[in-house]
Amino acid sequence: MPRVERGLAATDLPARELDVVPRAAEERVGVGDGIREREVAQTRREELYGGHVRTLRCRGDPLPRPEEELTPLEELRPGVWLKREDTHELGAFKWRGALPALRAYGDVGTVVTASTGNHGAATAWAAAQLGLRAVVYVPELASATKLDHMERLGADVRREGADMDEAKEYGRAEAAGLGVPFFEDGAEPAQYDGYAAIGDEILDQLDEPPAAVVVPVGNGALLGGIGRAVLARAPATLRIGVVAAAAPVMADSWDARRPVESSESGTFADGLAVRVAIPYAVEVLNEVATHMLRVTEAEIAEGVLAYQDAGIRAEGAAGAGLSALPKLPHLDGAVVLVVTGRNIDDDLLARLRSLHVD
Ligand SMILES: Cc1ncc(COP(=O)(O)O)c(C=O)c1O
Repeated sequence: MPRVERGLAATDLPARELDVVPRAAEERVGVGDGIREREVAQTRREELYGGHVRTLRCRGDPLPRPEEELTPLEELRPGVWLKREDTHELGAFKWRGALPALRAYGDVGTVVTASTGNHGAATAWAAAQLGLRAVVYVPELASATKLDHMERLGADVRREGADMDEAKEYGRAEAAGLGVPFFEDGAEPAQYDGYAAIGDEILDQLDEPPAAVVVPVGNGALLGGIGRAVLARAPATLRIGVVAAAAPVMADSWDARRPVESSESGTFADGLAVRVAIPYAVEVLNEVATHMLRVTEAEIAEGVLAYQDAGIRAEGAAGAGLSALPKLPHLDGAVVLVVTGRNIDDDLLARLRSLHVD
């Protein structure tokens, strides 16, 4: 299991807010503010997800405690908390963005999207909830587990393109031809609202704000949404993105503060395999991300296997978050990792295990 290196100098890292020192919890949120913020967050969740949120009142708890049954926070080891987005029936967090985004389109009949898998499954799932038809373009080598989710949910799945960004071009053309919305993952503000609710839940579920939240970055919407919520409520909490070094476009764009070009997206962490930056996502990450870390394929594999050793099935994108722990700056407080998905094919997991040498 990777360790958090407490001694690493913060100045070794590319960072925007290295001078931020986490303040004491009582300085950040007064008790009254905390109650109001929780209530606002709960109302927002209900608007976003409707019947998919359960409100539980815990015994001895004077507050209505908003909790989604499927997204608990659990402690991996002292100081490291996991936000379990992998436990949803789709095995990933993407439904939280797809449901509000499709709701915002209204009664459009059909929606077209492109995805390496999790976003496509979430779109199919949300479309089924709302009585829409989903057409999903996936790259030719999409994961079998993810294809299975999409097909089971009744999506019209089309395999086109060598990577996700090529599949996107096919999808865009199809949507234009049909005169229906093209749902571009990472370009819809409603997705960011859905993901912001994850940030709210993290803050609601911990007694005091963490020192950092660590979020894998593909197109950047997840960190964008979580980061917005965390920045608003706990500005001293670092908002750290992790990209696959083999798919660096969002880290490069964050460094440059504008979308830059890249020709690479060859990571086995298919949720992070983005080659073309979405301008809106770059804009949001420029506002909210404090650090952007890069992890190699070998490091991501270590993360996946470390989760597996802890009894958690994690796909590459989720493993990337765990594998970044040794690269974090010195932190005085808890770290939250978002376990973003579990949809890894059995043969890939077995291959990672067989390549792993202690
Ligand atoms: C499991 C998983 N984790 C993380 C990400 C990255 O999320 P985003 O593309 O919003 O940055 C994805 C994207 O597909 C994913 O599937």
